[in-house]
Amino acid sequence: MLEKQIGVDLGTVNIRVFVRGKGVVLHEPSIVAISVLENKIVAVGNEARTMLGRTPESIEVARPLKDGVIAEFDVTESMLRYFIEKVCGRFRLFRPEVMISVPVGVTSVESRAVRDAALQAGGKQAYLIPEPLAAALGAGLPTGTPTGNMVVDIGGGTTEAAVISMNDIVVSNSVRVGGNKLDEAIAAYIRKKYNLLIGDSTAEEIKIQIGSALPLNDELVMEVRGRDQVAGLPRTIQVSSGEITEAIAEPLAAIVGVVKGVLEKTPPELAADIIDRGMVIVGGGALLRQVDAMLTQATGVPCFVAEEPQLCVALGTGKAFESGHIMRRLTLQAKTSPF
Ligand SMILES: Nc1ncnc2c1ncn2[C@@H]1O[C@H](COP(=O)(O)OP(=O)(O)OP(=O)(O)O)[C@@H](O)[C@H]1O
Ligand SMILES: [Mg+2]
Repeated sequence: MLEKQIGVDLGTVNIRVFVRGKGVVLHEPSIVAISVLENKIVAVGNEARTMLGRTPESIEVARPLKDGVIAEFDVTESMLRYFIEKVCGRFRLFRPEVMISVPVGVTSVESRAVRDAALQAGGKQAYLIPEPLAAALGAGLPTGTPTGNMVVDIGGGTTEAAVISMNDIVVSNSVRVGGNKLDEAIAAYIRKKYNLLIGDSTAEEIKIQIGSALPLNDELVMEVRGRDQVAGLPRTIQVSSGEITEAIAEPLAAIVGVVKGVLEKTPPELAADIIDRGMVIVGGGALLRQVDAMLTQATGVPCFVAEEPQLCVALGTGKAFESGHIMRRLTLQAKTSPF
């Protein structure tokens, strides 16, 4: 097939690319390493990630997206171009149609930046799909029917919750709290309690290895290495999952708040559907232990983690191409948008 349709989930922490007919073919960190002097990209994605915190001053390792939106346009565009070329090949007869997910609350300037970046990066046509719609499609919810479908996307930079009916968003709410804030809270807790300084990636490792949203029956423990704040020397401590639950309680409360906010604004008929069918959790944060149980407990609505939660948005961007109804709407938007 010469003509290509690709879907992109341009996340704060990870980028995923879906190719129609193939599935999700790429899943890499949204990180770029740039040589400061030449203003040239030296590495992208996985390769750039290995350089985080390990580069001389002449090389800057940056995340061009912040809180789900483009913070550095040129870097984002170069990153997109790199990934599009990686999946489509450098020399191609036809330029691909690109579907990119964007958070619900983006401003017109932000959505224009995403569209421009996709076109500059080699897209023939760029469509923007609201992230929760893509997430719900990717999680396999019947979004096209007149029923309430609720999704919660706990990403790295943001958490978005929304109710979708007839392929459109009825209510949504978001907060700039996600996995990154959990990592920060863990680092702050360990600094305060043990006078130990740890880096972001160590904090993330602790979260993934022993973190839990609710206390676990069988506690997990882990050895953590860091630098003593007073002596300045390396030191090792033991941390338990119970301590991490305590450390991340505050950012988790903000996530609960977003979900409750959506439920409170949901029209009664749709709320009844959601009480019946529950809500689906997607995004990397869905992988945190007990996060489904915590949300169920806090809201009284059954919560389920989607299959492969980190890939749902990308899968949904791909599925959107197959829906005539969604494509008509997105095409109209692409034509009538004022830029
Ligand atoms: N097993 C795990 N347990 C807890 N958190 C995890 C796990 N695996 C990944 N994460 C977290 O998921 C987050 C990344 O999620 P995801 O890839 O959905 O974000 P994103 O789409 O790039 O961000 P955003 O949607 O906010 O722009 C990171 O904070 C990461 O630490
Ligand atoms: Mg995301």
